[in-house]
Amino acid sequence: MRITIFGSGYVGLVTGACMAETGNHVVCVDIDQDKIDRLNAGDVPIYEPGLDQYIERNRAAGRLEFTTDIEYGVKHGLFQFIAVGTPPDEDGSADLRHVLAVARSIGEHIDDYRIIVDKSTVPVGTADQVKSAIQEQISARGAAAEFDVVSNPEFLKEGAAINDFMKPDRIIIGTDNPRTTELLRALYEPFNRNHDRLITMDIRSAELTKYAANAMLATKISFMNELANIAERLGADIEKVRIGIGSDPRIGYHFIYPGAGYGGSCFPKDVRALARSASDIGYDAELMNAVEAVNDRQKQRMYTKISEFFGGELAGRTVAVWGLSFKPKTDDMREASSRTLMEALWAEGAKVRAYDPEAMEEARRLYPNEPRLALCENAKETLLGADALAIVTEWQEFRSPDFQLIKDSLTHPVIFDGRNLYDPDTLVSLGLNYFAIGRSG
Ligand code: UGA
Repeated sequence: MRITIFGSGYVGLVTGACMAETGNHVVCVDIDQDKIDRLNAGDVPIYEPGLDQYIERNRAAGRLEFTTDIEYGVKHGLFQFIAVGTPPDEDGSADLRHVLAVARSIGEHIDDYRIIVDKSTVPVGTADQVKSAIQEQISARGAAAEFDVVSNPEFLKEGAAINDFMKPDRIIIGTDNPRTTELLRALYEPFNRNHDRLITMDIRSAELTKYAANAMLATKISFMNELANIAERLGADIEKVRIGIGSDPRIGYHFIYPGAGYGGSCFPKDVRALARSASDIGYDAELMNAVEAVNDRQKQRMYTKISEFFGGELAGRTVAVWGLSFKPKTDDMREASSRTLMEALWAEGAKVRAYDPEAMEEARRLYPNEPRLALCENAKETLLGADALAIVTEWQEFRSPDFQLIKDSLTHPVIFDGRNLYDPDTLVSLGLNYFAIGRSG
């Protein structure tokens, strides 16, 4: 089948590569010439395990093209995916500028039946706006062309995106035209084997399903973080509590890991946007606001613990930081807890020596010429001259470090663990001070 994808960001590239992998002819369109040039030269601008091989293989086979030519894109695909960014506006609502610009471009060039598929995370009602924007352009040209707009939100996890796309938990199709359901069913057939994962509904419910899923997951995390803070003060161990409650299948073990707060490009933005949408229609989404407030506070937790340990005297101290990305297996540092920690430390006159297996280039880009940040070659090097160690991201390589070396290298033998990676008793028996999340110690 012929597919066009607008937006060669995270979702667009993964969708394009996976759709091409199953034999479709995919054209990816982006307005960023530099990005398109890089992709055409085989240089994938984001780090996602497996993505570069998928892109290379399908580009070589002629099934995957990258272009800035919008007209070519509109003429190419029966399916026109919109996968451009929806960054938060100043007030937290989703900024639909890019989505509507794509819609207008489609309207300028459409001359035959097309299915416009909203893949970006967009507030309820966006499909109606996309429809109007396309129709306005068609009418302005005095032309006539039929089209349908479908909501098909994406549920990819960074770091596992290829697998999530190839073997989805569900494929949500929001449409008001049953004919498009059948065409999308055919398109998704290779990803929908064994048992049917395609769920159809009206457009508005599909749009809300995406926000509901992310808001529910963010709520689980904030709930556990709140409970961790209570456990810490009550002398209980949240890790034992986590195992205790997870055994109830109605609660489950997934996504109840307390930590240094959730980050990334999705949860913070989507929780805020959902609360904003609610308030726009006169509903005070108290729970969503609390989920966000608990998370903002949690992202400060590591800093607070470090500051308390040093009696508020952080000027001149150096903290080794392990993990900069918002989670493992990505180089993405958007809304990462590491940034909250480092910026709070700098504000108090401390320095940071940091290491991350993938996000070093991103850290350099975000903090160019930052004299208070030393980016180190490896985890060991961060310890040189450091007073304390803080672990913010649970990369595999941090799971079983040489504790003796840590103890010998730090001026204060103390670890602040924002992801509860270690056994407190073992560390204490080695003579290390250990502060984790939700564990008294
Ligand atoms: C999230 C959702 O998991 C995807 O289903 C969704 O498609 C995606 O957003 C999106 O909207 O595009 P992602 O942002 O890649 O995916 O990251 P997650 O793996 O969900 O992690 C988010 C944050 O929650 C991370 O900072 C992680 O450290 C934190 N987290 C996760 C916890 O603190 N505790 C947990 O138990 C799980």
